Amino acid sequence: MLGGGPPVHLMWSSMFNPDSPQPKRKVDLRRIGRFFAPYWREETLILICIVAVSVLGLLPPLFTKWLIDDAIPQHSMKLVFIYVGAMIASAILAGVIGVVQGYLNSYVGEGIMRDIRTSLVSHLHRMPISFFTNTKTGEIMNRVSNDVDNIDNIVTGTLVTIVTNIVMIVTTVVTIFVLDWRLAIISVAVIPLMIFPLSPVGRRMYGVRKRTREKRDEIESITQETLSISGITLIKSFVREQFERSRFFQVANDLMRLEIDLAMIGRWFIMLIGAMVVIGPAFVWMGGSWLAIGGTLTVGTIVAFVAYLSRLYGPASALAGVQVQVVSAAAVFERIFDYLDMPTEEAACDGSQMLENVRGEIVFENVSFSYGERQALRDVSFRIAPGQTAALVGPSGAGKTTITQLVPRFYIPQSGRVEIDGHDICDLDLASLRNAIGIVTQETYLFHDTIAANLRYGRMDASDDDLVSAAKAANIHDFIAGLPEGYQTVVGERGHKLSGGERQRLALARVLLKDPRILILDEATSSLDSHNEAMIQSALERVMENRTSLVIAHRLSTIISADVIFVVEGGRIVESGTHALLLARGGAYARLYLEQFRDEVLTAP
Ligand SMILES: Nc1ncnc2c1ncn2[C@@H]1O[C@H](COP(=O)(O)OP(=O)(O)O)[C@@H](O)[C@H]1O
Ligand SMILES: [Mg+2]
Repeated sequence: MLGGGPPVHLMWSSMFNPDSPQPKRKVDLRRIGRFFAPYWREETLILICIVAVSVLGLLPPLFTKWLIDDAIPQHSMKLVFIYVGAMIASAILAGVIGVVQGYLNSYVGEGIMRDIRTSLVSHLHRMPISFFTNTKTGEIMNRVSNDVDNIDNIVTGTLVTIVTNIVMIVTTVVTIFVLDWRLAIISVAVIPLMIFPLSPVGRRMYGVRKRTREKRDEIESITQETLSISGITLIKSFVREQFERSRFFQVANDLMRLEIDLAMIGRWFIMLIGAMVVIGPAFVWMGGSWLAIGGTLTVGTIVAFVAYLSRLYGPASALAGVQVQVVSAAAVFERIFDYLDMPTEEAACDGSQMLENVRGEIVFENVSFSYGERQALRDVSFRIAPGQTAALVGPSGAGKTTITQLVPRFYIPQSGRVEIDGHDICDLDLASLRNAIGIVTQETYLFHDTIAANLRYGRMDASDDDLVSAAKAANIHDFIAGLPEGYQTVVGERGHKLSGGERQRLALARVLLKDPRILILDEATSSLDSHNEAMIQSALERVMENRTSLVIAHRLSTIISADVIFVVEGGRIVESGTHALLLARGGAYARLYLEQFRDEVLTAP
């Protein structure tokens, strides 16, 4: 066994000691069952189809027996025609029912997949942002697409196989006992050897299957990262194609070995079972011949029996194989349940109060916050009155962005309170809180869709006129109107067919359509050149009027016009006040002012 995972000796020891403690909890079958429940009508129909096909399959050997024992000895062509005709008719009927069952199988399988996929995705939508900063996108993608695809195999393949085979075995056993109980006992005696408990194989398969899934996560992550527009640009500019190739090869190679292991596990057992399929009939021929020579059995019965054996041993060996599949399929369900069990962001602080008639007062009270171990904010307190503009300034890494992210509850502080209009935001309904807040950051995200569709993300029912006036306010309308396809232009992957400044102005227009009471701008105009920024500045001022704005600014003009400036350093607010007041004090702000804005000050008219 190559590659990662538990040491080989551990796996083998657990093979030989089935009672050793299982590292994994049992899969919750009831929980899996809940996904099947809505399809009970189709499932009942499938069951009926299976039974019907199975019973129809019992008929041909019987007709064969009667053909040999009655029709031929009686020299009756009429009977021959009847039996042969019935043989053909039952086969055709079974085929037709099989087609119907195939449709139902797909319907149930695909339906359950749709349901699981949707609940998985909608659960992911409600996961906190920290989950997404800590998890590779590729891993998430893999679970939503590949893992769920695997469930389809379990549902339409494995489950139906199990039921079909059980029904086949039961009906066949009943039939052969009715035909001749002595021969039936010989036939059945061989079966236990076949469904010999395969649990050690299943357990090993479970482990390998699980590691295979993890490798696939890795592959998906690498693909995701290297084939994204930013990733590919990075690779090309550092000429790392060769390096990326070998990195990919290594993971792909690990996956190859795991898949081979997976294919080989249990092959020996399956081979043994295969041999039984030949050995079984041999015993039946022997016992049958002995009885026939004794005159207590007809040749037709022996022939029918041997035909039935394939309906007995085939299903039995299939069932043995399926048991292995079911155990390892648990690994897949487990990965999906892992995700579904992760707490959503509502769970962290479950407020239900609706935020209505927002005035827009923002208060931080002794807020401390860490990203895991890393403390980002220490005892931050401030108040922004409704309608005011507050500027956050300070060196990079000081905690400015972190402060803004606590307002829409993207993160929850470990201690202290964040309040809007006097409500602790933890008590507020999350959607009503976020509806009141508009955010534009430096990293604007656009969907690979038209400009109009991207803008409408801000307000779904916005009319074309609304779009135009928002675009005008953000000083992007003229640019859009100048494009050959205007508002129907597709912006490209992540908006990369636009310049940074154009993207940012689109993002501004989008948030203007949302028309929030509280506006957060995190270096939102940083990609704009000074010409553009000057043009947008007046628009912004109009926009910020009557709204509470929290602005992380990098331009002096924005800072100077703010009602209050908070200077952030090392996760604390070290100074606050107006530009003139802080400058006169000659403290941190004055230093920052000289360092950061000297050029701007000197070149200012
Ligand atoms: N998701 C995160 N996980 C861990 N640490 C983070 C995360 N985001 C930011 N930080 C850290 O928190 C500190 C404050 O970051 P930030 O608020 O983005 O600073 P600013 O916006 O003032 O430049 C930095 O030291 C940064 O490295
Ligand atoms: Mg920042």
